Amino acid sequence: MNVSWEELEGMCLSCHKCSLSETRHNVVIERGSRTARLMFVGEGPGEQEDLSGVPFVGPAGQFLDKLLIAAGFEDDDYYIANVVKCRPPNNRDPLEEEQAACIGYLRRQFLLVRPKIIVCLGRIAAKALINPDFKITKERGVWFERKGIYMCATFHPSAVLRDMSKKKPAWEDIKAVRRKFDELREEK
Ligand code: URA
Repeated sequence: MNVSWEELEGMCLSCHKCSLSETRHNVVIERGSRTARLMFVGEGPGEQEDLSGVPFVGPAGQFLDKLLIAAGFEDDDYYIANVVKCRPPNNRDPLEEEQAACIGYLRRQFLLVRPKIIVCLGRIAAKALINPDFKITKERGVWFERKGIYMCATFHPSAVLRDMSKKKPAWEDIKAVRRKFDELREEK
């Protein structure tokens, strides 16, 4: 059963289900339009996100914004959230138990936003949402349909910043997301 936005926000802000809550400055819940038909999901907040409480505002987010602007998206075309809502220390990968503790909040976000397209940013989100055995290098850019929702994954923007050979495929993926977004335009 789903909750309201206000209830979800309250649940996230008061959450102590895992030890990430002990070191967080802010719970990082969302950015963008709550009625968007396109949703991006990252892995978890980094330093800037932890300090500001807003997803994807640091270097990875600025790079993601550039790609989205280049593909013609406007701020209210999409909604962004993460698999875990509190920063893992030193930007390590979120642990399985941290993901398990937090994923219910993301699922409630899906129920409230009701996106037509979900794009996983990086392997952690793809493993959590598409398939635990997801191989990002092989399977990025492939569309999966689940209950009428189109899902795909691309490289995490931080991975692209670390290895610029990933930039072209990431850009191809974002262009494919744009095409799918336009194709489904009439449906929401
Ligand atoms: N990386 C993520 O996965 N999420 C953010 O919000 C920022 C960086």
